[in-house]
Amino acid sequence: MKTGASLPSQHLRVGDTPLIELQGLSPALSRRVRLFAKGEWHNPGGSVKDRAGLRIIQEAERAGLMGPKKVLLDATSGNTGIAYSWICAALGYKVTLTVPGSIAPLRRAILESYGAELMFTSPLEGTDGAIREARLIQAAEPSRYFYADQYNNENNWRAHYDTTAVEILAQTKNELTHFVAGLGTSGTFTGTSRRLRKLAPKVKLHSVEPDAALHGLDGLKHMATAIIPGIYDDKLADEKMAVSTDEAQAVCRKLAKDRGLLVGPSGGANVAASLRLAERLAEEGANALIVTILPDNGERYLSERFWKE
Ligand SMILES: Cc1ncc(COP(=O)(O)O)c(C=O)c1O
Repeated sequence: MKTGASLPSQHLRVGDTPLIELQGLSPALSRRVRLFAKGEWHNPGGSVKDRAGLRIIQEAERAGLMGPKKVLLDATSGNTGIAYSWICAALGYKVTLTVPGSIAPLRRAILESYGAELMFTSPLEGTDGAIREARLIQAAEPSRYFYADQYNNENNWRAHYDTTAVEILAQTKNELTHFVAGLGTSGTFTGTSRRLRKLAPKVKLHSVEPDAALHGLDGLKHMATAIIPGIYDDKLADEKMAVSTDEAQAVCRKLAKDRGLLVGPSGGANVAASLRLAERLAEEGANALIVTILPDNGERYLSERFWKE
């Protein structure tokens, strides 16, 4: 990824994450139907959101919207906030984040360690409440803040258009047949899918959402009941898949115990949807290579009870 001039080089290792094969996870997986996942916790801030965060900040610097005299403002349930916070700490910029009061203590500790200022919103209103609060703060003092607005910022999906999609095609030696990814801001799915449509138009695109408005899949949105992100392209997916919190959490436990991979619930949801797709493709006798995303590490969710079930 191209980088801003003043970030120390050890911080610039955003992207180029490993592609991990998840063989043995289900009888549906074989030499004919293979499943791989991008290990996005390998990014310096520990999640897929480093890609979007870095791109958003670099482009804002270039456009003269962000600098030492500005405060970066956004609504974030955690991972994007962590990305903004470590990058801005390295650049000497200030960050203010609106976050639902239900944020996990560990996430809060990480954000505060990087020096971010947190403003808490109602846990009942989820990320949508945080978005409304960020808009109010920006409207009250527009010259003080650069409102990064990850839900409407085109540089969010462009990060994945320029990096994630290209990496996946190179790592699968152009054998990719299906791409599966969850929708939060939709940046990962939209950007990766748009580039795949161009470079490998036969690849089928599968978006993943929680199956209900109230869910435990941190980072993902139930589009039917949420504020729809401005960057979301409703027409892009060949198939929209829904995953329950229980199903995703069961896959998280299985990934940890059977494959040695401790991943967050949205990674569990992505793999759950991918396994369902793999079963269908195996029944049809297809040859397939599925790639999905493991957005972050399970350590960020260890305080949740589902690991012990
Ligand atoms: C853990 C996790 N999974 C998935 C996503 C969704 O990614 P995107 O916003 O690119 O749709 C996010 C976004 O914040 C996230 O934090």
